[in-house]
Amino acid sequence: MLHKKVEEICNRQVEREGYSSALYLSMASWAENNGLPGVASWLYVQSDEERLHMLKFIKYINERGGKALILALKKPPAEFKSAEEVFLQVLKHEEFVTASINEIVQLTLELKDFTTHNFLQWFVNEQIQEEASARMILDKLKLVGKNNMYIFDRDILSLRAAEAAPNQPA
Ligand code: FEO
Repeated sequence: MLHKKVEEICNRQVEREGYSSALYLSMASWAENNGLPGVASWLYVQSDEERLHMLKFIKYINERGGKALILALKKPPAEFKSAEEVFLQVLKHEEFVTASINEIVQLTLELKDFTTHNFLQWFVNEQIQEEASARMILDKLKLVGKNNMYIFDRDILSLRAAEAAPNQPA
């Protein structure tokens, strides 16, 4: 039987995983409408995974004699400035989820609930992966930015060179 405090904090996590799913779905839809089908596809899959995380918590709470609750989700943002902003928000959100999972781990240790502690290990590992993928995509985006700047810089340089020598034969 789950300790009431563990049940409550796991239900808080049901809501947070559900919100993650809605947030990534909203980001996916924005990306799809803004000419970024690859980003959209990554986020749609991520949204599905978050729903599975939510289901894992729901089933665990119910299996252990608790009562899983489906709470109202807050509305996720619908507009983003860029793909970089999207992935910065993904990383920030995943760091928040990691901290949230760690709080549950901490509580299970305090209450000596080793069964829930064991259940949480999958999420501890998953969070390492999720933060790492968000960081990897952000690193890629930074490279894309630099390459664009490089091309832009070269373009301006050749423009300047042409201005400096207007009378040279072509
Ligand atoms: Fe379920 Fe991305 O945390």
